[in-house]
Amino acid sequence: MPITAEMRETARGKMHAESFSSRFKVFWKNVYRSLFRYGRMPRDAEGQSYAVFNNLFLHIHPVKVSKHSLKFTYTLGLGVIATILFLILTFTGIWLMFYYFPSATEAYNRMLDLRSSVDFGFVLRNVHKWAAEAMVAVVILHMARVFFTGAYKPPREFNWIVGVILLLLTLMLSFTGYLLPWDQLAFWAITVGTSIASYAPVLGEPLRKFLLGGDTVGQEALVRFYVLHVVILPGLMSIFIAIHFWRIRKDSGLSHPNENGSSARGGAT
Ligand code: HEM
Repeated sequence: MPITAEMRETARGKMHAESFSSRFKVFWKNVYRSLFRYGRMPRDAEGQSYAVFNNLFLHIHPVKVSKHSLKFTYTLGLGVIATILFLILTFTGIWLMFYYFPSATEAYNRMLDLRSSVDFGFVLRNVHKWAAEAMVAVVILHMARVFFTGAYKPPREFNWIVGVILLLLTLMLSFTGYLLPWDQLAFWAITVGTSIASYAPVLGEPLRKFLLGGDTVGQEALVRFYVLHVVILPGLMSIFIAIHFWRIRKDSGLSHPNENGSSARGGAT
């Protein structure tokens, strides 16, 4: 049968389609390989170590993880819950920024508008508020878990200090967020809170002036609390959470009762 121009055209089209799909497959294979450098999980211990080490997602874990530290009853998942709450707060906080305006004459009305005129505005605000309150409770409980399992002992004393900084940042985020709705509760809570702070020796009065930008709670204070709440404190929190996770990795993962040279008690064994 003679080959017609039409047949040639169809064959060319097919080749083009094939070469595109095969190139696309190779592209994805390369992307996949760059993330998970091992195909099947090797059976031997050395191969398994390399597989974990060369996997973008798994290499956050130490090469060996103790079975004990994976038990839910050991950590109660509190650190992970605190991380998830921080992510929820970041997401809902950025969303709230579309509606909020840090002005003493506007802030309160914006909050009322959010509740009544914006679709799901009421839900958005409440998710942010409840997640913030839950985070304070969860971080305190996480600290108690770390203390009662003796996980603050060497080699994790540095991470304990990082944890204390995270606790202070959590409390400061909660405090600065309190003023933003600019209602009576917020106004008087911050008036009382900053007055208490001013009684701290030496730094008390300068700290109060720094926070309020003057002697009373007004427009200056609102802008300062806003900048601290949406930029400075979340930025510091992200940096210290990254250091916290890096230290967990460097301290050979979570503590467990049979660690060499550590007296971590580890709760129930
Ligand atoms: C924003 C606050 C915090 C976040 C997001 C966070 C996150 C985490 C996560 C995910 C873990 C591993 C899993 C777990 O133990 O649940 C962990 C472990 C740890 N955290 Fe935190 N944490 C926070 C605050 C604190 C505080 C306040 C302390 C103590 C003052 C602390 C000290 C530690 C220590 C020492 C470990 C290692 C525990 C072990 O080896 O058993 N963290 N943290």
